[in-house]
Amino acid sequence: MHVGAEPIRPSETDPELERRLAAEREFHNRKFGDPEEHGNSQSIYALPKAAYRAFQRELQGRAAGADILEYGCGDCSYVAQLIEWGGRVTAIDISDAAIDAARELAAERGISNRASFARMNAEDLTFPDESFDLIVGRAILHHLDLEKAYASIARVLRPGGTAVFLEPLGHNPLINLYRRFTPHLRTEDEHPLLMPDIELAKRHFGTVDLEYFTLLSMGTLAFAKVPPLWTPALKALDALDAGLFKLLPVAGRWAWTVNMVMSKPHKG
Ligand SMILES: C[S@@+](CC[C@H](N)C(=O)[O-])C[C@H]1O[C@@H](n2cnc3c(N)ncnc32)[C@H](O)[C@@H]1O
Repeated sequence: MHVGAEPIRPSETDPELERRLAAEREFHNRKFGDPEEHGNSQSIYALPKAAYRAFQRELQGRAAGADILEYGCGDCSYVAQLIEWGGRVTAIDISDAAIDAARELAAERGISNRASFARMNAEDLTFPDESFDLIVGRAILHHLDLEKAYASIARVLRPGGTAVFLEPLGHNPLINLYRRFTPHLRTEDEHPLLMPDIELAKRHFGTVDLEYFTLLSMGTLAFAKVPPLWTPALKALDALDAGLFKLLPVAGRWAWTVNMVMSKPHKG
């Protein structure tokens, strides 16, 4: 049995929910149990670097002194960085293997006493109301029932707190074609976010700010076999993307990723 196998609250009334949670957990246990899974630096998953940088900037600017929840942390989580930036961190995931790996990483880095880890269903958080100042997650919301996820996040967020998520979008036909040809990389229930999913967030949070990444920069793939040109091409096309999304915000729906910064209003 994995060290992190805390019980998940059972749902005796919803077999479909049980199936979906078990499928997510098993897929990610396989993925995080296999060290060969991570892609190379000229692969499609190296494209959204600008998005990762922007996500990290949002986290870094908010971490100091904050009680932070990393939501769906996986194995290569942000726990160490969030602690380095002055946060107190709790991390949850439904996968035993992910939580075990995240715990091991924390032990290796000597920060186990400053972080806590739990296997938990992100749609049914067991923390008391208003427990966290900051909730962060990368590529997790699109694995969840969003109505339940947003409600759970809003419940455990303190008034004035912020939730920051980096998520894939599901409107670009080329990206969707790639997804169709690589089903083994994804769980059967995951669903890159659509605009109505983002609209739904507005019902749970006071403000929802969006920043889009990776549309024209997908052209960098043309340089996959020319490594010296990869980084300059990505930089130039990222800059074009930034200009495009500023001039024509509607183009954001065809981006690959969106950075969502959602805040809970102060009381009174
Ligand atoms: C694409 S991975 C992202 C992991 C990590 N955030 C990262 O960026 O590397 C999605 C994560 O969501 C977790 N997950 C899926 N469904 C979940 C649920 N209902 N509750 C908690 N975690 C869940 C998976 O186990 C997996 O670790």
